[in-house]
Amino acid sequence: LASIRVDVSGVTEGSQLTVLWQGKPVFIRYRTQSEIDAARAVDLADLPDQSAENANLAVGSEAIDQNRALPNPEGSDAPEGAWLVQMGVCTHLGCVPLGEQGDFGGWFCPCHGSHYDTAGRIRRGPAPTNLPVPVAAFVDPTTIELG
Ligand code: FES
Repeated sequence: LASIRVDVSGVTEGSQLTVLWQGKPVFIRYRTQSEIDAARAVDLADLPDQSAENANLAVGSEAIDQNRALPNPEGSDAPEGAWLVQMGVCTHLGCVPLGEQGDFGGWFCPCHGSHYDTAGRIRRGPAPTNLPVPVAAFVDPTTIELG
């Protein structure tokens, strides 16, 4: 799989960059502390899909927020868990969800009404699984490599 490098130096707290990778949108979000706190306050038992769906972790890892977020780059002063990288493809039928919308403050898919939370986990609606987290890592303080 071809990997790409994305410059995230312009992504400020509370904003999102969407890039195309392998023909699909990838959301790269620099979350606020309140988005992180909201995601970490959720009980695993309340999640329709309790798997992290994170290609960087072992299959079956739990969908706790810590298993969804990208580890910060070395020396970062961002809050721990600030960076969330996930495919921008609804797991129902593949529409592109809209950011900062829906009943859980994360993403909302307008096609058939799937609500994702601030960790990209499905919370309500027809989508069966969380938005997948692709293989990703910081390779320097302002660059994320996908794939
Ligand atoms: Fe997103 Fe159906 S494609 S809810």
